[in-house]
Amino acid sequence: MNKLGFYRDNSKNLFVQDLNVNALATKYGTPLFIYDAALIENIFLKIQNAVKNVDGKIFYAIKANDNLGIIKFITSLGAGADVVSVGELKKCLKVGMKPEKIIFSGVGKDREEIEFAIKKRIKQLNVESREELLDVIEIAEKFKKNIRIALRVNLDIKAKTHAKISTGDEYSKFGISSKEILKVCNFTKKSNYVTLHGLAIHIGSQIFDYSLFYKTYYELEKLANNLNKNGFNIKSLDLGGGFGVDYEKYNFHKFSELKKITEKIFHNKKYEICFEPGRSLIADSGILVTKVIRTKNSRRKSFLIVDAGMNNLIRPTLYNAFHRIEPIKLNNIRKNKVVDVVGPICETGDFFALDRKLQEMLKNELIAIMSTGAYGTVMSSNYNSRKNAKEILIYKGKDYIIKKEISFNESIKSQIIPSF
Ligand code: LLP
Repeated sequence: MNKLGFYRDNSKNLFVQDLNVNALATKYGTPLFIYDAALIENIFLKIQNAVKNVDGKIFYAIKANDNLGIIKFITSLGAGADVVSVGELKKCLKVGMKPEKIIFSGVGKDREEIEFAIKKRIKQLNVESREELLDVIEIAEKFKKNIRIALRVNLDIKAKTHAKISTGDEYSKFGISSKEILKVCNFTKKSNYVTLHGLAIHIGSQIFDYSLFYKTYYELEKLANNLNKNGFNIKSLDLGGGFGVDYEKYNFHKFSELKKITEKIFHNKKYEICFEPGRSLIADSGILVTKVIRTKNSRRKSFLIVDAGMNNLIRPTLYNAFHRIEPIKLNNIRKNKVVDVVGPICETGDFFALDRKLQEMLKNELIAIMSTGAYGTVMSSNYNSRKNAKEILIYKGKDYIIKKEISFNESIKSQIIPSF
């Protein structure tokens, strides 16, 4: 294998490992998500290296990409999982992840989900309110089963990110205010089946200002120390995810800053330290390949109408998110043109880029929407009765179809060919 991730050969064709993306798109059809397992592994090792001196453990946030093949591959690297629904939990178990490597987060777990998690003896339930704690206690008592919990704390820290993905201040629905945490901790004494094992936090996603992580981690540790002085036995701190991905540059990370921060705060290794990266682990390793159905020049605008729609990738319209767009084949002779890259869906919001300068593209040619490994296919829908895009994983120079859903007639082995 030559290089990591997506790169160009001398004739300017886009490649992944030794495979020509154009050939893959011809083989599988478009729209098509392509993921590079080697790049996922490379980034995983970088995160692992950043947190190794504090014995940090990685629990991949499944919500970023819950394709069974991706979960299975990341499991094979040694990661655990952060899940937020029984569906995600079942997927992890299906690909062979051990329950003791699974953390269950989320503000609205219902009774069925709590019951399932308790019975499966997962590592930890992250509880987000006094009300949820009472439900957990009731269910654990009913089945006489032990469960370890962490309380998710809200430290009222405003993350500088898009309002829809900022979760750390007291106006958001997440966590228990640090002012009320002692009271809630006391409730855990009501049951011998429920053990208060840790504190958890996640202030938001797509964060670049690492001083916010410093403040968060520092204050969380201080809070744990105080609670322990009050007779509790907090052993674990779950620090969440949120590490920003620069969608304009490719494969650019600030994990060295994470290393500095965690070593400064947690060098004494008093607590087990857990991280839940999602986007930073998987975003850059995926692209969405789509075909130009036709070009359209109107009086005011030029459009590239492509065969992927906002049902396949909703981030640009939902968050005004930027994704680089690249022709699958660069052509030096062609001029650049300013275009809107849009899908076929009957909404003006169905776009991937507005007023973007791109090499002029013709009907039936292919483009790639870059860094779509995270929060791409997971947020897809069948709006306009459209199909899901196919997904393939490139592993050791070979392409494999990987599937999103557990089909009950099929075994996991027949769905995912490589055994990692
Ligand atoms: N842990 C918890 C409790 C979370 O809620 C999240 C993300 C993560 C970890 C992982 O965060 P990450 O490392 O990926 O930033 N759909 C949005 C992102 C939503 C993030 C939700 N929570 C987007 O496309 O930007």
